[in-house]
Order: sequence, then structure tokens, then C-alpha cells
Amino acid sequence: MELLTKTLVLFLVFTLSKAAPAQDSAVNDGGDGPGKPDRCDGIQFDAIAPDEKGKVHYFKDGYIWNSFRGPSQLSSEYFRDLSGRVDAAFRMHNTENPDNHDHIYVFQGDKVSSYFNQSLEEGYPKGIQEEFPGIPNNLDAAVECPKGECMTNSVLFFKGNDVHVYDIATKAIKMKTWAHLPVCASALRWLEHYYCFHGHNFTRFHPVSGEVNGTYPKDARHYFMHCPNFGHGGDRTAVKCSDIKLDAITTDDAGRTYIFTGPTYTRLDTHRDGLHAFPIVRGWKEVTKGVDAVFSYTNKIYLIKGDQVYIYKTDTHFTLVEGYPKTVKEELGIEGHVDAAFVCPSEDTVHIIQGARMHDVDLSATPRVVSQGVPLPLSGIDAGLCGADGIKIFRGSHFYKYASPMILAMSRIAPFPVKITSAMVGCED
Ligand SMILES: *[C@@H]1O[C@H](CO)[C@@H](O)[C@H](O)[C@H]1NC(C)=O
Ligand SMILES: *[C@@H]1O[C@H](CO)[C@@H](O)[C@H](O)[C@H]1NC(C)=O
Ligand SMILES: *[C@@H]1O[C@H](CO)[C@@H](O)[C@H](O)[C@H]1NC(C)=O
Repeated sequence: MELLTKTLVLFLVFTLSKAAPAQDSAVNDGGDGPGKPDRCDGIQFDAIAPDEKGKVHYFKDGYIWNSFRGPSQLSSEYFRDLSGRVDAAFRMHNTENPDNHDHIYVFQGDKVSSYFNQSLEEGYPKGIQEEFPGIPNNLDAAVECPKGECMTNSVLFFKGNDVHVYDIATKAIKMKTWAHLPVCASALRWLEHYYCFHGHNFTRFHPVSGEVNGTYPKDARHYFMHCPNFGHGGDRTAVKCSDIKLDAITTDDAGRTYIFTGPTYTRLDTHRDGLHAFPIVRGWKEVTKGVDAVFSYTNKIYLIKGDQVYIYKTDTHFTLVEGYPKTVKEELGIEGHVDAAFVCPSEDTVHIIQGARMHDVDLSATPRVVSQGVPLPLSGIDAGLCGADGIKIFRGSHFYKYASPMILAMSRIAPFPVKITSAMVGCED
């Protein structure tokens, strides 16, 4: 998701709410008070780590900030029994072991503590040597590195220019020296990217090679916190769950789920890092006026707006297929406004919803043949998604579940509506 870094700069403006709890009343967003550190002064953080809910915590001299905006508080007021300066912290990614998956590990001198749900786990603090044998004391930084991004579920421990790559399952350590990287005072994995923080700056690096691309360092105050006079501020647009209305939703072949509302999209499958909305044009630069319907098929994503359909190849980036956009009529044989569209996994049929009717189009057959259509038990549908667990049809702030397209087509009464929640899409309850 290269595109996300390029757009980090905008996330404050578009953050729906997850990472930014209601602390707007703070006059100074840097969040200081007598004797408290102000992160807008340009401080160096001791540690940064997200928690199990995707909230990012910034540690400095016994104080902590629990989001991108808002004031600091004593760390002991948030993480019970945590006081004093910390050296490093990371969130454990250990899907094989629910006992410590998503716990925050905090390092102080030769000790490590494990926190979950803001509470210190039993048996902690422990010696670092007991819990992570071979990892040095007085660390500079630590960051999780899940399998897929590192070879195995790992933790990167930083001390000076040395990086100790710790395999969580085998406890094996691989040593690397990244002399080209600044010494990291803290490190963060956020939305699949890796950031080394030094001074008030940060540098993005590759978690395996340490490679740095692009123009770094950058000033963290422009990206990772809300500071007055650091541009990009604006007020966050917190959407109430009761007001939410999706334009479209889809899961692509890489397993990434996107919702589209107005000019923004939010990726749902990276919810461990909070839910953040970005402008649609950052991902699909030709799609400038929002979308009416979106579906995914054979490593491509189809975005429909008005009478146009944009087809993008699904890769790390989205690339517009040559010759597009085309008209919906030309591409799919469909006329008129499309409200929602979805393809079920490993099927070739796109189900197109227009008003209270659903038409089927076989995407493997040209010329396209549009089925006559069936009446649906609902009208005013905004979006539809088909997955292994059946179909979800979204209308306003609710969705309806059906086991299959056939059941949707055959049912004469709408099933029980389910509320769209904050946990699903990051709106505000
Ligand atoms: C988290 O802690 C709070 C307060 O100690 C408790 O009420 C709640 O049940 C805990 N939640 C979980 C998921 O353990
Ligand atoms: C931060 O980065 C800028 C360049 O973007 C550099 O001029 C400045 O010296 C750096 N400051 C610190 C404290 O690292
Ligand atoms: C850096 O850029 C090169 C060339 O574009 C690319 O092959 C490499 O994957 C990039 N590395 C990172 C860490 O983004």
C-alpha cells in the first residue's frame, strides 16, 4: 500500500474517529500543561506503539499521548503500574498464540512488562533475558514485523545502528547493522509501513533490507500528530454511525476490503492500526467524483460513477487499464444508474442492483448478456458485498445479511437489519 504513505499527510483531516478519541476540547492540541512535555515543541519520543484496538501510544519521560491528537497524561494513569521513562515498546504480533497476541511490551532498562487492556499481565515485569533471551538491555526502539512483511512473525529490536531480528516462535536472533539509518529512538509499524523516529523527524525504512526510499527525514509533526501551525490540521470529520451511508464496498483478490463514502475510502482489513479515510483519488487518481458502485473480479477492481466504469489492475498500486473509462453500457451492457454491484468469490457473475431490481451479467462472456432481473425485497440500496460468509446489503446505517445471491433474489421480505458499528467502519457511535 505504497499509496498510503504518500497520503499520510492527509490522514488527520480525514481520520474518521478511531485513532482520535474525543479530546477536541483541548485548546492546545500538543497537549501540555505545567511540567508536561508538549509534542508540538519538536520532542523525541522514547517509544511509540499501537495497542490491541489500533490506538497509537506515544511515550515520553513518564508521559503518554494516546492518539494523534489530544493532551498527554502520566503513563501510570493509562497503563496501570507503568511509571518512569521507557526505552522501547512494541505490539506483539503472534497470531499463533492468543495469550500474548496484541499485547504491548514495554522495555525499561533490563526489564520488560506486558500490557493488555491497559493492565499489567501477571508475572511482569520480567528480565529481558528471561523473556527475549539475547536481546540487549537499554534498548533504543522495538517494532513488530508480522510474517509476510518479515520472513516469520518477528520483532525488530534497535540499539544504536544494530538491529536484532527476533523470531517469536523459535527465539532465533539475526543481527543486522543499518549504518545508513539514523539511530531510532522509537519505531512504529503503521498501515504496513515501518517508521524510525529520531529527534522530531522520522524516516521510513524497509523492515527486511533497511532500505530507505524517497525523501527523508520528514518532520513527524506534519504526519503523526496534530499540531497547530503544522498545516494539514483542519477539523476531523467524525461521521456518526447513525448518519453513515456507504457508496460502495468491495474486497479485492489480495483480501483488502475498502469502503467508499463521498470523496473518501477507508480500508477495513488493516483495522489493527485504526480506521483511516483517504481521498479516493489517492488510490485511483482518475476517479475524481466519488463512486456509485465498486466490485472486484479477477485481480481487477471496477469503479462505477455515473455512466462510466473505471477498471484498475489490482497490485501494490492500482493501474487504470488502457482504454478506460468506458461507458457502463459498453462494458457491462447495463443502462441507467447503478446503485450497487458485487461478485461472489470465484464466480464470474456480477450482480448489479438498480433500484429494487437485481440484474446478473456474466463477465466471462462477450458480448455481455444482461439477465432480465429480479425484484428485490429492499429498495434504496447503497452497496453490496459478497464473501465466504454470504452477502451483506448496505442501506443507510444498516445492513442486511443473505446467504447467497439466489436467496437474496428469492426472498420477499427483508431480514432483520443490523446496525453498522464503529468497530466495522470507524464511524462514531
Ligand atoms: C478491560 O478492563 C476493564 C477494566 O479493568 C474491564 O472492565 C474489561 O472487562 C476488560 N476487557 C477485557 C476485554 O478484558
Ligand atoms: C529533521 O530533518 C530536517 C530535514 O528534513 C533536518 O534539516 C533537521 O536537521 C532534522 N532535525 C532533527 C532534529 O533531526
Ligand atoms: C525502493 O525503490 C525501488 C525502486 O523503485 C523498489 O524496487 C524498492 O522496492 C523500494 N523499496 C522500498 C522499501 O520501498
